[in-house]
Amino acid sequence: MNQNSTPLIDAICAFERRGVSYFNVPSHRAERGEGERIRGLLGDRVFAADLTETDGTDDLHAASGPILEAERLAADLFGSEECRFLVNGTSCGNVAMILAAVRENEKILVARNAHRSVWTGLQIAGALPVWLTPCYDPLFHVFAEVNPESVERALASDPEIRAVFLTNPTYYGVSSDLTAIAEICHRHDCVLLVDEAHGTHFYFDRRFPRGAVTSGADLAAMSMHKTGGSLTQSSLLHRCGNRIDPGRLGDCLRMVQSSSPSYLLMASLDGARHDLAENGPEKMERAFRLAEAAREGLLRIPGVRVLGGSHFRTDSGACQDPLRVVFSAEDSGLTGYAVQEALFRKNVTTEMADPYNAVAIVTDGNTREDIRNLVTGVDEIVTAAGRIAAEAAVSVGFPPVPAVVMSPRRAMNGDTIPIRFDQAEGRIAGEMIAPYPPGIPAVCPGERITGEMLEYLTRIKEAGGTFQGPADPSLQTLRVIV
Ligand SMILES: Cc1ncc(COP(=O)(O)O)c(C=O)c1O
Repeated sequence: MNQNSTPLIDAICAFERRGVSYFNVPSHRAERGEGERIRGLLGDRVFAADLTETDGTDDLHAASGPILEAERLAADLFGSEECRFLVNGTSCGNVAMILAAVRENEKILVARNAHRSVWTGLQIAGALPVWLTPCYDPLFHVFAEVNPESVERALASDPEIRAVFLTNPTYYGVSSDLTAIAEICHRHDCVLLVDEAHGTHFYFDRRFPRGAVTSGADLAAMSMHKTGGSLTQSSLLHRCGNRIDPGRLGDCLRMVQSSSPSYLLMASLDGARHDLAENGPEKMERAFRLAEAAREGLLRIPGVRVLGGSHFRTDSGACQDPLRVVFSAEDSGLTGYAVQEALFRKNVTTEMADPYNAVAIVTDGNTREDIRNLVTGVDEIVTAAGRIAAEAAVSVGFPPVPAVVMSPRRAMNGDTIPIRFDQAEGRIAGEMIAPYPPGIPAVCPGERITGEMLEYLTRIKEAGGTFQGPADPSLQTLRVIV
């Protein structure tokens, strides 16, 4: 296919050139109906491109023109059978993948480090999760890879499982051996669904982990906006092979996407795909070198550790995204949150922090000066902290997944009441509690709250962490099922 073309961008430009008298939504009539403040921020062209389904602009939900062509080019670039544009991020892609793969009361094996949208998918589908705990890295205190053997064991012991859902790579860039896992899934007659929100760039440099589309996944959702250069909220959903019915997938996407999808987002997907096709390898080479410089600089700072490739057990097939610079100043007595906050005061941002680590995402849009600012900033912060801990703190790890007492669907429909946090042990959670970032649920509705879990949440709170999901984010109270 001609990757040099941009069918949707061209269609929008052609429509603009016609100068039509426009009687559709949106009401701003290109820049003419919009206020000056927002035009000052965005410029006029943004409004001209903010169109709707009209003559020549196609329809995302029944694409047959430039949107379909743009989607086909994306499928061709990444190597999938079919690619669908998403305007509500990988969040809606995760929900659609689950809806397409499992029906009410069917079982799905889900790695516990799943994004909260996966829970939404389970609730809407009425599916029954069987949780799989990924390997845990005690040095950086993060979930790492999913071992293929653990998938084999889970599927062999429960033949009712219909699908497997993995987050790959993790927010920390850790990638599992997807090829081996896909083979196991298919041998057990299961489909493999992959949340590849953080892995769009994997397809453009052989030093990166292998992407889900080329590893045998049946469906993969990728946040093009995170590492592929498109506008925030724009993602891609790939269907690979023929185990998932394309008609059902289309129906599921209609359930989770707006009937007024943004042409700005879709055009940015078309543009980012074109840019990656034309310049992907050079962009990744540049990003790779910058990330290497960041990693080397950080490693030279006493009291700082950097998560790196050699860290992983080679027999599990795991590896890490080189563009994800995960570092810890725990040995200097600093939490990830403290490092993030202190860096921000020095005008350096990081993607996220947890009680132990901070995470910087490097792209080709960064500069040598950015890298210097990051490394110098961390150096100054650690020096100011003024101590190197005699030995690293003992990792207390992530507590075991609590027992599932009721299905996500039943839990969602259960009546709840707030009770004091310190009285919650033994009760059934009525709300999700997901330390944020990265937004991985510690407790899901319908699960029995354990003392260990309460201790874990307390530790995150004391370290300065915040939570998504609870009605009382201060965690003085928790909602439990009556
Ligand atoms: C692992 C993971 N999956 C899914 C999502 C949601 O993706 P999106 O922001 O594209 O909706 C995120 C968001 O941060 C994420 O970290």
